[in-house]
Parts: sequence; C-alpha cells; structure tokens
Amino acid sequence: MNTDIATAEVGIRSGRQASSNSPLERFAPRDQEETSLLRHRIRDLAVAKKAVILAHNYQMGEVQDVADFTGDSLGLALEAQKTDANRIVFCGVRFMAESAKVLNPDKQVLLPNLSAGCSLADSITPESLGDWKERYPDHTVVTYINSSVEVKAMSDVCCTSANAVSVIRSIPNDKILFTPDRNLGRWVARQVPEKEIAIYDGCCPTHDVVRGSSVERVRRAHPDAVVIAHPECREDVLALADEICSTSAMIDRIAKYPDVHTFIVATEWGIVHQMQKRYPDREFVLADGCIGCRLHCPYMKMIDLEMILASLENEVHEITIDPDDMAGARRALERMLAVPRD
Ligand code: 13P
Repeated sequence: MNTDIATAEVGIRSGRQASSNSPLERFAPRDQEETSLLRHRIRDLAVAKKAVILAHNYQMGEVQDVADFTGDSLGLALEAQKTDANRIVFCGVRFMAESAKVLNPDKQVLLPNLSAGCSLADSITPESLGDWKERYPDHTVVTYINSSVEVKAMSDVCCTSANAVSVIRSIPNDKILFTPDRNLGRWVARQVPEKEIAIYDGCCPTHDVVRGSSVERVRRAHPDAVVIAHPECREDVLALADEICSTSAMIDRIAKYPDVHTFIVATEWGIVHQMQKRYPDREFVLADGCIGCRLHCPYMKMIDLEMILASLENEVHEITIDPDDMAGARRALERMLAVPRD
C-alpha cells in the first residue's frame, strides 16, 4: 500500500501532461531534486511574506509536508484564529479557507486552487436551508463546517466532526435541525438521545459510497485489525468501527493500541500520509479495500507544490466574503469555538 500511495502522490500535478486514465496516475511525476527546490522556495517565501501554511489531513503528502500545521477542520480553524501571521495559505477546500477568512477578516487568506470545492457543502443551498427552517421553525440550526458562508450565516451555530456532540449538548433548546451531513447527524443523534434532532439529507460522496460489506471483506483479510472510521461514513460502516472520530483524532487514536499492527481506515486516503509518518511500524489498510479509488476526494487533491508557490508569489487566490454574510457566519463559527469540548 505504501507504494500505491506514493504512486498516487506523484500522480496529480498541476499543468502536467496526463499520462493515464487512472484518477491517481494522471500526470507525470516530478523528480526529487525539483521537489526539494520547490519546498525550499515555498518555505523561504512563507517567511518573507509572513505567511502561515495550513493543510488538511487529506491533502497530498507533499503539501502536508511543506505546511506549518496539518490538522482537521477544527484544528485548522483554531490555528487560523490564533495565528499572528499576515496571511494564511489554506491548503484544503474552499469552505475551510472561507472559515479562516471569516475568523480573520483583516488577514489575507489565499486558496491556491479556487476549484477546490466540496460536494457535501454543495448539497445545501441557502434556498434549501430556508425550506428546512420553515419546516422546523422551533429548532436551533446546527450546521457542519462543510458548508458555504451563506448557509453558515443562516445557522445558529457551526460544528465540526471533532465537536459536534459537545456543540449539540451545549444548546439549551431540545429541538435541533442538523445540516447538511445525514451520516454525521445520525451518529451525533445516537449519542445525544435526549435531543430531538431533525437531520438534513446531504452527504459526502467519498464517505457515503463505502459499505459495511466491503469493510467486513477487508476485516476478514486482517482479522486482528482495529477499524477507525470518520463519522461521515454510513451507519453500517460505523457499526463495525472500534473508533469513530475526526481525522486528527483518527491519527491520535492509533497510540491507544500499542500492540495492534494493522488499522483499517474508513476515510479519505490522504490521511494515511500522517498515519505512516507518526506510526511507521504500523500497517494501514483502506476500508473499501480499493486504494484511492473510492475513498478519494478529488477536491482535496487539487493543490500541489507548484500551486502553493504561485499562490505565495502572486498572492492568489484571495478569499473575499460578502459583507452581508460575514457577521452571521462569524457569529455561528465563534459560538462553535466558544463551546468547551467534552
Ligand atoms: P475533519 O474535520 O474530521 O478533518 O473532517 C473534514 C472533512 O471534510 C471530512 O470529510
């Protein structure tokens, strides 16, 4: 699997000639010397421009390795909130960069590739949320951070996979409208049975395609493995998991099992880069048994070193937020950040 992931990592390069139809081997690899040169130029420019580089755990390994901080959505939002850098280069998807801008209106926030969207965030629009709010007028709206600024501005509070349960427990109202991820919503609802939770019907296609039967097949091949899953997975997958948590917690939880060699990972394959770095003596197997094919988020693989360098050099692509949405989105995000985690 290490070889396959390495192949995948060199497979996606901006502006290079497509060399294969495989989603993971589309572009010719770059040589080591060129990679090292790019890394140095990025790090020098980040210092000169007082920029912090933040990367999500699903980004390509080369992007994670050049970043100042790699983490889950909550960790990245907290870093963005506390940084004293002048600018933030956000290596993730658009909603993450927008959240950083909302929390830092006076800083320059750059997203190296503006096409890096999110299917889950696209599954809820201001109009569809408006319809759901009309159907549930007495409910407090809790919106997953994987959503647009407009949708956040219409919500009472945001949450991430790391704090969704704590956020919902902190709300005095017993009636909650949870948007947009139905799998995360159902998982949270099972843990907070005292609340009446209406759940929107969006999902992350990368997680939602994995089935329990695939995980069972992988587990038959690795009977002693521990299964670690992200709560955006379906219920039948979560029912087989030993640990269910945010991406950073998925990495941390491996330390809980010093005697376990193999871990079955039910989330986007980019996370394995950090897992292998932190625990080089362990084996990580993707839950669908199909490396990088189904558990692959195309949006999370849209940034590479060339784009980060161009982003720093040319100060592109700068995130701006409509002033009408700014105050509401900021209120929802700041309420989330004020909730202590259980
Ligand atoms: P985390 O906040 O757990 O990193 O999840 C982000 C995400 O987009 C999962 O698909």
